[in-house]
Amino acid sequence: MSGATVVNHPLVQHKLSIMRDKATSTQGFRRLLREISLLLCYEVTRDLPVVLQTIETPICEMQAPTIAGKKLVFASVLRAGNGLLEGMLDLVPSARVAHIGLYRDPETLKPVEYYFKAPEDLNERLVIVVDPMLATANSAIAAVQRLKDRGATNIRFLCLLAAPEGVAKFNETHPDVPVFTASIDEKLNDHGYIVPGLGDAGDRMYGTK
Ligand code: URA
Repeated sequence: MSGATVVNHPLVQHKLSIMRDKATSTQGFRRLLREISLLLCYEVTRDLPVVLQTIETPICEMQAPTIAGKKLVFASVLRAGNGLLEGMLDLVPSARVAHIGLYRDPETLKPVEYYFKAPEDLNERLVIVVDPMLATANSAIAAVQRLKDRGATNIRFLCLLAAPEGVAKFNETHPDVPVFTASIDEKLNDHGYIVPGLGDAGDRMYGTK
C-alpha cells in the first residue's frame, strides 16, 4: 500500500475549508473537527468485515449483518489526536481507546514519548491511529512503531491533513499501514508546518495561542 486515501466528500472538504480559515473560532474549530471525524471514521471503517447474526424483528427472524471480530481500538496521539477521537467515539461508542503521549522537540522535530496506555490484546484488534496532522510523520511513525512493539498487526492511520513528504516517509517506514486523510497539501515549511495547512491543530483546538 502506498500513498493515502483522500476522503474528498463535499461535506468533508467544506468543513475542512472553514477549519483552515484563521478567522474560525476555537469553539467552531472544535465542533467542525468532531463533525469531520465522524465522516472520516465512516470512510476508514468502510470495508470492515461483517458476520450474520440471527435476530428477531417484530415481524420475523432474520440473518442481520454485524461487525465481525473484537472491538476496534482508536489510538489517539496526544494531544491533538483527542480532537479526532471524540467524533470517532460518537460513531463507534464501543471502541477501546489507546493514548500515546508524544511531543515534538522544537529543535530536532523528533518525537519524545511521555505517556503510553493501550488495551492488552492489540494483536487481536484493528487499531486506528488518529492524529490530525501528518507533517514530518516522525510522531506518526513512532506511534505506529510503539503499537507494533506491543503486538498490533492490523493498523490504519487517520489524519485530517497530510504533507506529501509525510505521506512518503510514513509509507516507506510502515508500508503495511494504510493512510486516510481529508487532504494532501502542498508541502512542509522549514518549521515542519503543513502549507497551506491550518496552523497548529492543538492550539486551534484548545485556544492555547
Ligand atoms: N502539527 C500541526 O499542528 N500543524 C502542522 O502544520 C504540522 C504539525
